[in-house]
Amino acid sequence: MRPPLMGTITVTAPAKVNLHLEVLGIRPDGFHELAMVMQSIDLADRLSFQTTADAALTLSCDDPSLSLGEDNLVIRAAQLLRSRSGFSELGAAIHLEKRIPIGAGLAGGSSDGAAALVGLNTLWGLGHSRSDLERFAAELGSDMPFCVAGGSQLCFGRGELLEPLPAVQEFLAVLLVKDPRVSVSTPWAYRLCRELQGDRYLQGEDAFEQRRQVLRDMAWTQPIRAAEPPPLRNDLQAVVEPETPAVQAALRLLSTLEGTLAVAMSGSGPSCFALFADPTSCAAAQATLEQQLAAEGLQSWCCNLRPDGVRIDA
Ligand code: C5P
Repeated sequence: MRPPLMGTITVTAPAKVNLHLEVLGIRPDGFHELAMVMQSIDLADRLSFQTTADAALTLSCDDPSLSLGEDNLVIRAAQLLRSRSGFSELGAAIHLEKRIPIGAGLAGGSSDGAAALVGLNTLWGLGHSRSDLERFAAELGSDMPFCVAGGSQLCFGRGELLEPLPAVQEFLAVLLVKDPRVSVSTPWAYRLCRELQGDRYLQGEDAFEQRRQVLRDMAWTQPIRAAEPPPLRNDLQAVVEPETPAVQAALRLLSTLEGTLAVAMSGSGPSCFALFADPTSCAAAQATLEQQLAAEGLQSWCCNLRPDGVRIDA
């Protein structure tokens, strides 16, 4: 029996920033072993899912530069969910309103894929639990389980092993800066990291676990407090920044601001961000930079931290 179908649903797919991205070493599967702290922010894409009369899976998007084919994680997530359901006749028309910049180190594509898992699970009445969906997500991309769960999480392994952190103080704010003409390839960033830093990588599970424990013991286990901000760290920044003038420009501008708690690149870049104690000082900093950002052709967003990941809209 085919499960019951609903009409249309919409899902919000938030971006993330990396408050900590530490490259520990190389895994037997060739991926990098990571120790990260990821944080959802309220810059978000919106996806709508509509049932179709046939078994077609279609994707449309308001941004013509996005590939809508089999390489898009939304399509791959839909195909995976349908194949696991055993109902080959399930179809959906999916529309994506793109707000998160593409190839930016903000997990926009992963969050869209995570939204497809959550949205179609409901649309198709499949009844998978969140942890089932996180397992499917891990098959599609290292960042995707985080995008399903969201909030503040320690992320280990390839990035798919999650340990939730206490909810952050939601008054903290993030000023994101990105050059719209530049995107960074994640495989390139990790390849370069291995080339330049590989001889300093840790070896073996015992060494990895020691570093994980250091991260667990850091102030992350407390709610993030403005008076005692956590140090930001991104090991990919050390290799991407020298090769990427857009990252240098963003970090230079953010570092001149008063009132920032810390500044870093997110993921494999080129987005960079500054952490602020509250949205008012974040907005004031954005206004201060307005002319310089415009002169350098950089985009910016003032964002709040979010306590959750992809969510079906009410
Ligand atoms: O898992 P995902 O498809 O997002 O990863 C994209 C690429 O980034 C991988 O193909 C790999 O080159 C690199 N990567 C890595 N180690 C990780 C995550 C990603 O080397 N933990």
